[in-house]
Amino acid sequence: MAAFTELVFSGVQPTGNLHLGNYLGAVKRFVEMQAREAQCLYCVVDMHAITLWQDPEALRGQIREVTAAFLAAGIDPKRSIVFNQSQVHQHAELAWIFNCVARLGWLNRMTQFKDKAGKDRENASIGLYDYPVLMAADILAYRATHVPVGEDQKQHLELTRDIAQKFNTDFAGSIAAHGHGDAFFPITEPLIGGPAARVMSLRDGTKKMSKSDPSDNARINLTDDADAIAQKIRRAKTDPEPLPSEVAGLKERPEADNLVGIYAALAGITREDVLRDFGGAQFSTFKPALADLAVTSLAPIAGEMRRLTADPGHIDAVLADGSARAEAIAAPTLDAVKDIVGFVRRGPSLQAVR
Ligand code: TYM
Repeated sequence: MAAFTELVFSGVQPTGNLHLGNYLGAVKRFVEMQAREAQCLYCVVDMHAITLWQDPEALRGQIREVTAAFLAAGIDPKRSIVFNQSQVHQHAELAWIFNCVARLGWLNRMTQFKDKAGKDRENASIGLYDYPVLMAADILAYRATHVPVGEDQKQHLELTRDIAQKFNTDFAGSIAAHGHGDAFFPITEPLIGGPAARVMSLRDGTKKMSKSDPSDNARINLTDDADAIAQKIRRAKTDPEPLPSEVAGLKERPEADNLVGIYAALAGITREDVLRDFGGAQFSTFKPALADLAVTSLAPIAGEMRRLTADPGHIDAVLADGSARAEAIAAPTLDAVKDIVGFVRRGPSLQAVR
């Protein structure tokens, strides 16, 4: 197998408010990944956003807001590459090539499409159906080896692996002939884990916390102020039992499990650690402690987001710089892919990239 340099890629859609699930399942972990000896790319996936209709002015604002959230949470745009997808045309180009590699049967199995399209499937955009192929292109345009995401993206990452594998097999002869050994694309590893890989709704512990939940009380938004955060936690659904002292005791108690998981992820500890401190405690004790922790962790991020979004020129400059650096990695990958599939390019054919 060819050796690939470690490279981290992940993306977030600019569709409405970022919430605690996005933060704990993804953005907070993006920040932690910067400690690795790897190039990290964090992308605001605006082309994915338009698979469902977006108001153009609102979309522009949301792209800047997600960028501000990345920076406010601690992503350093000098160390990591922060950019928006539509500025790097290689994503769309590679997606087309992958459309010709991925099979209809694979996409038909995607549960997120079924959920989002709902009953009126005939009326869903083709982009919504093709969404996971564009996601594979996002990742593989950089030949990323690691992708930190929440659990809901697991199936999409399996599809990315299938596409990489099929491309490597379908074009094996050409890949070798162009000097890339026995594999051009890595089989990307999903990084899904920690106590908050799936943060649940505060109103129903069996439903994922999501932007589209009609009840704002179901989620904590990154832009919520201290009062709103405390109130939502106070009102969060729970059961009448005290917290157990062992993790096994959280089974069949989805709301308790969720709040303990949120506490653990915010504090950077495990569920076991939380129960060591709070086992036997009533929610009337635990909820205020959780609210304090959430406010001290999230309020500075909200404040910094407000400061950053007041200067859209600065945000746009970060995105322009990130896009240029991203394109410097994606362009040679696409040149090599074009050679491998047999296109005739302007300029000399590349023998090797990276
Ligand atoms: P998106 O924008 O829906 O969500 C962004 C990230 O937040 C995670 N997430 C959650 N994690 C834990 N609990 C939750 N309740 C929760 N809700 C959301 C998501 O798993 C995700 O990591 N398809 C992606 C965006 C994307 C992407 C990519 C990701 C496009 N291209 C390439 C990685 C690599 C999405 O819709 O995320």
